[in-house]
Amino acid sequence: MQPPGCRQRRRHHLVRLDTRMQYSYEFVKSVESVAAFEEAKQLLKRSPEIIRFKIRIPKPKSDTIALQPNQLFGEEKPMKETIDFRLNGKPTKLEVEGDRMLLWVLRTDLGLTGTKFGCGASLCGACTVIVNKEAVRSCQVAVKNVRGKEVITIEGLATNGNLHPLQKAFAEHDALQCGFCTPGMIMNAYGLMLKNPKLTRAQIIEGMDQNLCRCGAHNRIVQAIESVAKK
Ligand code: FES
Ligand code: FES
Repeated sequence: MQPPGCRQRRRHHLVRLDTRMQYSYEFVKSVESVAAFEEAKQLLKRSPEIIRFKIRIPKPKSDTIALQPNQLFGEEKPMKETIDFRLNGKPTKLEVEGDRMLLWVLRTDLGLTGTKFGCGASLCGACTVIVNKEAVRSCQVAVKNVRGKEVITIEGLATNGNLHPLQKAFAEHDALQCGFCTPGMIMNAYGLMLKNPKLTRAQIIEGMDQNLCRCGAHNRIVQAIESVAKK
């Protein structure tokens, strides 16, 4: 089955804009039917980081197409709600739309850009964080679902200025190239080791299999994790 998000990615034209190292998008779409309009609205709702959008409405070919530009943006904004959780050991309270994805709340609202956006479709693991001791993909978790929970991001691993052993091991084993996948790799390994600190090499390979590294640093990543599991 196709993962959620893929279909929309191909059918819409998203242009990445460089905005202070955060990912934002220009949304360009031709809307020719009510169904396409609804689909575009859903995509915009799920992706609040789309900061600019153009929606083209071609001249109607028949009166079954009755969209006007002002129909696109007349919708009321979703309701904000208060969401409390613990983030990297500190109580955190936000006024936020509960359906927004945790990834974007961390990156955009809280400025914690260590958690990365890779695919947005649960395929790469770049956005992995820990929620109540479980490694989860924050691009797929609505922020309302972390209410009352404990969230740990890569920024929360070091204690008193000392890197976590996994962070040190990644540096020592040169287990990164561009480093984009690294926070997700470390958080996923951290989640695995919360359950079993003495992971075998086979368990590491299996547990890390769904975290992707485009630079091909997998061998060194496994070695780094293994070096911590052996201590
Ligand atoms: S960004 Fe979440 S899995 Fe790729
Ligand atoms: S180090 Fe570049 S994607 Fe993994």
